[in-house]
Amino acid sequence: MKEYQLVQNTIDFVKEKLQNAEGGHDWFHIERVFNTSNLLLNHEEGNTLVVQLAALLHDIADPKFYDGDESVGPKTARNFLVSQSVDEKIIEHVVSIIKHMSFKNSLETEGTKFTSKELQIVQDADRLDAIGAIGIARAFNYGGFKNRELHNPDVPPNLNMTKEEYKKSTAPTINHFYEKLLLLKDKMNTKTGKKLAEERHQFMLDYLDQFYKEWNGAE
Ligand code: ADP
Ligand code: NI
Repeated sequence: MKEYQLVQNTIDFVKEKLQNAEGGHDWFHIERVFNTSNLLLNHEEGNTLVVQLAALLHDIADPKFYDGDESVGPKTARNFLVSQSVDEKIIEHVVSIIKHMSFKNSLETEGTKFTSKELQIVQDADRLDAIGAIGIARAFNYGGFKNRELHNPDVPPNLNMTKEEYKKSTAPTINHFYEKLLLLKDKMNTKTGKKLAEERHQFMLDYLDQFYKEWNGAE
């Protein structure tokens, strides 16, 4: 099969699968990560097919919506790629990327260490979508989905959460900025990713300034 056709089939598969996904994890999140990955590929070395397939399939079954089961996503991606007769080497690489991409997994020190230029690119694209104006919208959307408070001055951010605590946390959405979003800028892998993260990071800092100003009723 031509690579172009394979990518088209993957797009169709992912769109269908994510039809009822929550707003921060829907097809448009995937489309943004796919587009940003392609943009990063213009400046960074990496295998285009692996990057594109991993970008498209990286949130195919988010553990948050599968009772915390982290194996559903990689399995679903593998089965799909096998059904498309993709080369086993490429399947293995794409599935490894999906397994290792999440922020929570990167918090784990144990476990298999895997990295590749392609993983770095897709991870940067996913992280870029978690910060800036889109990142703010996604965070409050997710907080609303989980019925979280916007902000509560009596609940300080917890910067030392384990992976389990992070999963169970019911903290206000503003805390998520300190626990994750503001940390992402320094976790970017690629030079181009770092550059793109700067403006989005500054936008969040400005947003928080304005948020507290309004919260405190300042003129
Ligand atoms: P990814 O797209 O990288 O898989 P996640 O699944 O961790 O990211 O989160 C998806 C979106 O939901 C991100 O924009 C993230 O900031 C947001 N989100 C995740 N956990 C929380 C939380 N506890 N509070 C607010 N937003 C959250
Ligand atoms: Ni994602």
